[in-house]
Amino acid sequence: MKIAVVGTGYVGLVTGACFADLGNVVTCVDVDQEKVRQLKKGHVPIFEPGLEEIIGRNRGGRLSFTTDLARAVQSSDFIFIAVSTPPGKDGEADIANVRAVAQGIARSINRYKIIINKSTVPIGMGDIVTQIIIKHGPKGVSFDVVSNPEFLREGSAVADLLRPERVVIGATRRTAAQKVAEIYKPLHCPILITDLKSAEMIKYASNAFLATKISFINEIANLCDKVGADVLQVTRGMSYDSRIGSQFLNAGLGFGGSCFPKDVAALVHIGKTNGYPFRILPNVLSVNDHQRALFVQKTQKAVGNLRGKTLAVWGLSFKPNTDDLREAPALSIVPALKSKGARLKIYDPAAMGKAKPLFKNVKYCKSPYEAAQGADAVLVLTDWNEFQQIDFLKLKQAVRQPVLVDGRNMYDPQEMAEKGFAYHGMGRGEVAAF
Ligand SMILES: NC(=O)c1ccc[n+]([C@@H]2O[C@H](COP(=O)([O-])OP(=O)(O)OC[C@H]3O[C@@H](n4cnc5c(N)ncnc54)[C@H](O)[C@@H]3O)[C@@H](O)[C@H]2O)c1
Repeated sequence: MKIAVVGTGYVGLVTGACFADLGNVVTCVDVDQEKVRQLKKGHVPIFEPGLEEIIGRNRGGRLSFTTDLARAVQSSDFIFIAVSTPPGKDGEADIANVRAVAQGIARSINRYKIIINKSTVPIGMGDIVTQIIIKHGPKGVSFDVVSNPEFLREGSAVADLLRPERVVIGATRRTAAQKVAEIYKPLHCPILITDLKSAEMIKYASNAFLATKISFINEIANLCDKVGADVLQVTRGMSYDSRIGSQFLNAGLGFGGSCFPKDVAALVHIGKTNGYPFRILPNVLSVNDHQRALFVQKTQKAVGNLRGKTLAVWGLSFKPNTDDLREAPALSIVPALKSKGARLKIYDPAAMGKAKPLFKNVKYCKSPYEAAQGADAVLVLTDWNEFQQIDFLKLKQAVRQPVLVDGRNMYDPQEMAEKGFAYHGMGRGEVAAF
């Protein structure tokens, strides 16, 4: 099939590369000329396991990159929109990029096309795209607008795209949805066809539910700290109940990334403007913010006044296996620690390149041990696998004080105590332990 994917970010680039790998002819389009130039040369601008290989074996064959939207539209039958929809005023999703692409499609559409929206957009956006194309497009050209929300996770985006738990396709005309379903057929996954608005709502409802799970367990963790219970033992006990399950119950620094915070805020806004002010969701966001402040307080409690103290910061990205810093807890925690006078030595396996313009006057280190050298405490902000393999003997020799403030609950408090570390987790029963 001939496919255009507009937007070459985490979603668009992975989608375009994987669709090409499945045998389709894919043109990836972006307005960012530098990005396109790099992609044409084979430089992949984001870190996603497996992505470089897929792009490498398809580039120059079935996969091409351009800034020329018109030509990509004209040569394709399916046009996926995967542009950013950043948070606007009052949490409202900013749909300017999607509108711009719709206008571009309208200006160049030359025959029947299926326009598929993969960006996360407010409910009703499919109708807006339709109206834009009717208004700005040539008379008599037919098209369908379809919603195909994306559920991939950064860090495992390729695997998620190739092995999705479900694909949701929302359309006004079933035949259009079925044509889009053909693209996904080789993946042998459940494909759910819905109406347009329900598909758009499925994406927001899914993200808001997952974010709610995280804030819920963080509140339980905070109470665990007060009463001396261990949230990990609590969630283990909860997870045997199949109605609850074990996923997304990791207490810690809360959710970040380009999706959960913005999508929950957008849904709150959609609720407000449609006469249904959510009661749960605003609190999901405020609990999430609070976790970061709480971590800074925990650090202060662990090492005392931070002025002049050296802190090792392990991890910056909002989660492991990605270099993405968007809405990462580090974005508020690092400046907060600095403003209290701490000297920071930072290590992240992938995100330091993106961090350098954001955090000045900190020391970027080549390994977790280098960061820990002479530190008054080691702070874990991202649960990178690498931090699971730490040689604690070596670490103890490196630090000035063996204090571990674990924002991701990576380590066992008992084990850390045995290794001689003062351990502070999130909801690990500190009151009882200390
Ligand atoms: N990142 C995720 O994990 C994820 C998962 C599911 C859904 N989503 C949703 O998918 C959409 C894209 O997210 P992302 O993380 O890939 O964004 P991104 O910021 O990584 O990439 C977006 C790309 O779109 C390009 N772009 C912006 N306006 C354009 C235009 N008018 N024409 C062509 N290109 C344009 C940008 O230059 C950028 O390269 C968002 O709506 C997001 O909410 C993201």
